[in-house]
Amino acid sequence: RSAPPATLVIFGASGDLTRRKLLPAVESLARHNRLPSQFALVGVARTPMGDEQFADSLLGDRRLLDKPQLQGGIRYVSGGYDDPDTYKRLAETLDLLDAERGTAGNRLFYLSTPAEAFEPVINGLAGAGLNHAREGSFSRLVIEKPYGRDLPSARELDAVVHGSFDEPQVFRIDHYLGKDTVQNVLALRFANSIFQPIWDRSWVDHVQITVAETLGVGTRGGFYEHAGAMRDIVQNHVLQVLALALMEPPASFEAEGLRNEKVKLLQAIRLPTNRDIADLAVRGQYTRGGTRDDLMAGYREEVGVDPLSRTETYAAMRLNVDNWRWAGVPFYVRTGKRLPARVTEVALQFQRPPHLPIPQDQLTGLEADALILRIQPNEGISLRFGAKVPGHSFRVRTASMDFSYEQTFAEESPEAYERLLLDALLGDPTLFIRSDEVEQSWRVVDPIIEHWASDNSPIPTYEAASWGPADADRLIGRSGRAWKNSI
Ligand code: BG6
Repeated sequence: RSAPPATLVIFGASGDLTRRKLLPAVESLARHNRLPSQFALVGVARTPMGDEQFADSLLGDRRLLDKPQLQGGIRYVSGGYDDPDTYKRLAETLDLLDAERGTAGNRLFYLSTPAEAFEPVINGLAGAGLNHAREGSFSRLVIEKPYGRDLPSARELDAVVHGSFDEPQVFRIDHYLGKDTVQNVLALRFANSIFQPIWDRSWVDHVQITVAETLGVGTRGGFYEHAGAMRDIVQNHVLQVLALALMEPPASFEAEGLRNEKVKLLQAIRLPTNRDIADLAVRGQYTRGGTRDDLMAGYREEVGVDPLSRTETYAAMRLNVDNWRWAGVPFYVRTGKRLPARVTEVALQFQRPPHLPIPQDQLTGLEADALILRIQPNEGISLRFGAKVPGHSFRVRTASMDFSYEQTFAEESPEAYERLLLDALLGDPTLFIRSDEVEQSWRVVDPIIEHWASDNSPIPTYEAASWGPADADRLIGRSGRAWKNSI
């Protein structure tokens, strides 16, 4: 697969995401010859800079500038996002590039700015007529998260977007969908026949979805103060992974069929009531912790964070999915910063056998059967089951069958952003979020965020490098279950 002729325009070109993810993705696509020589890259931002300086500051590997895809094809437009002149100069630059490089009038506008700039940029593009492509060409918009901060603001943003762009032109990014291991949830479930029969309430006791990070908020304190774990990770990454893991089989992986199934699943998530909300959702904030040699600051001590901040850096929920397949099965999801391990996984725990013909004292070390889909790191899948311990007695202990991406495949996984950038250039929306998915996701998290906002009791805390607040253990412990922390 390689991209058609096009110009990629990145708004927020001097920003963190551009430097850390987008430019390396462009570099990698160029290195693997997935960009045509009729390609151009335009950065737009407020910081004044020349073309050369932009190319120099952003491309890690200087030799890439000699690649025909990038050589002479990098431009920079500086200007305010609400200044019509910025878009006039951008339009001129794009026309020039079409003539010089044969980019064919195809434009991919990537919004990698703070969310406040989305509206002015979209209106600016429309003001310069850049939302419409000429006959036979495309004009597309890629939008980074956060897509709104609740359901009403997401709808307002959609109204702005749809005022100038039609839905097929819009590509809302959730970079988790670009990860091979997230797509592998689909492969495991739907390219095999052996898992599907046990993938339901008759066999599954419960499911745990974990997105644990060891990092703190780093330099993003200012942004994170307005987000928190629920908006930053649960509303998007966690619910997307959950939807792929629990949805019904689509007839094909064609974009609309797949996204319809995700929406149906999200719609079936039961909302908490005022009465049970406190039992179903837990938040936490990390305090100073770690070891004496590696002491980590508490969240309230981080740069850009209010010393009295009530922003959650940890969130856990128990969800129920009210449909035929999952009725009665609890889904425990959690995410947090400054946890003891970096791990993203989906763990299905199966029911205990109805009867064990083995004495209880022979079963120490036997856990319930589980299938663990490791999204990252140590990408792979583990199936845990009981096996007879060698020896004269009949003792059974948990054993594991492990599939590791690294050991099985010689091919390397592309970075999530590389995959998604190529998909957007090719016009494939399968791994992007449709507007109704965004709405359904806010529907699920909004009541909890509102409940927390109105709850004035002290925010529960957890020490940095620990597995979250004690409330989270109570959340899952109430049903006699426990988090799988033995990673
Ligand atoms: C981003 C969040 O969307 O995902 C960050 O804003 C988080 O806070 C990141 O660190 C995690 O992504 P990954 O790919 O490192 O798991």
